[in-house]
Amino acid sequence: MTMNEEQRQARLAQIKRQWEQRRAISRSLGKIKTKIGVYSAKGGVGKTTVAVNLAAYLAEKGYAVGLLDADIDTPNAPEVLGSDAHPESADGRIKPAEAFGVKAVSMSYFQQNPEEAIIWRGPMIHNAINQFLQMTDWGEIDFLVVDMPPGTSDAPLTVMQVLTMDGFVVVTTPQSLAALDAKRSINMIRKLNVEVLGVVENYVGEVFGSGAGRELANDLSLPFLGEIALRADYRDDSQPTVLASAGVRGEYDAIWAALEERLTELEAMPEQQAVAEGAGDEPR
Ligand SMILES: Nc1ncnc2c1ncn2[C@@H]1O[C@H](COP(=O)(O)OP(=O)(O)OP(=O)(O)O)[C@@H](O)[C@H]1O
Ligand SMILES: [Mg+2]
Repeated sequence: MTMNEEQRQARLAQIKRQWEQRRAISRSLGKIKTKIGVYSAKGGVGKTTVAVNLAAYLAEKGYAVGLLDADIDTPNAPEVLGSDAHPESADGRIKPAEAFGVKAVSMSYFQQNPEEAIIWRGPMIHNAINQFLQMTDWGEIDFLVVDMPPGTSDAPLTVMQVLTMDGFVVVTTPQSLAALDAKRSINMIRKLNVEVLGVVENYVGEVFGSGAGRELANDLSLPFLGEIALRADYRDDSQPTVLASAGVRGEYDAIWAALEERLTELEAMPEQQAVAEGAGDEPR
């Protein structure tokens, strides 16, 4: 079937739109030095908690940090951050909200009613995430921590494709069943040719035991970044727990030491990085 002139024009216009969209995204993301996704296919393992605390930890160390809540179905990172701050939007641009030195953007900021369920279908997910990325002005930041949606379907896939992440931190729990899901998560990331930075084991302690995360990391020849204990301290949601609990801070000291080493290692591999960066357009 041959295209008539009208179809050809429509197709051209579509290509131009997509091109402009990609330009806008790379302009908006161009000043971000390192993008770290926090992910697990399994829900409830503590992705949001880890993303928020890692972001707050890095901000406290003096880095310029952004937090993107990319969980568009049930966005909740702002609540975990413990802030009522809202982003400003003007002229179609979004200025992230700021709390505890972290610049945050979440779909929940644009929800009319927080109790409402958001139902996204394939193309809508893609559009929403694209829009979000195009419109946000992050400014110059050292780290963007991305709280990923759970699952292995459209939403996490789209985020992984649109945002060229430097790598992912995979969160798992001490139970071996969770490790199976984590394996799935890691395989999905690897299929997309993105780095897995390492594994974090959450909910460690008397209740659930410990060890499955380290075992998984060893199995897959990945760095084990550290353990995070199950603690009542997380009940206080007025601020990120890492800022309030010395025990949690110690855990993040260890995680960051391992993560920083891994990031430095990856940076020293120019070829692999070129591949990862070649997926997007050159930022201007
Ligand atoms: N180490 C911990 N100790 C105690 N409570 C924790 C810990 N980590 C997370 N939690 C709590 O567990 C609940 C689930 O955590 P969180 O929302 O971070 O999981 P998630 O993986 O992001 O979930 P979802 O898949 O729904 O996005 C939250 O109420 C959080 O406060
Ligand atoms: Mg979450």
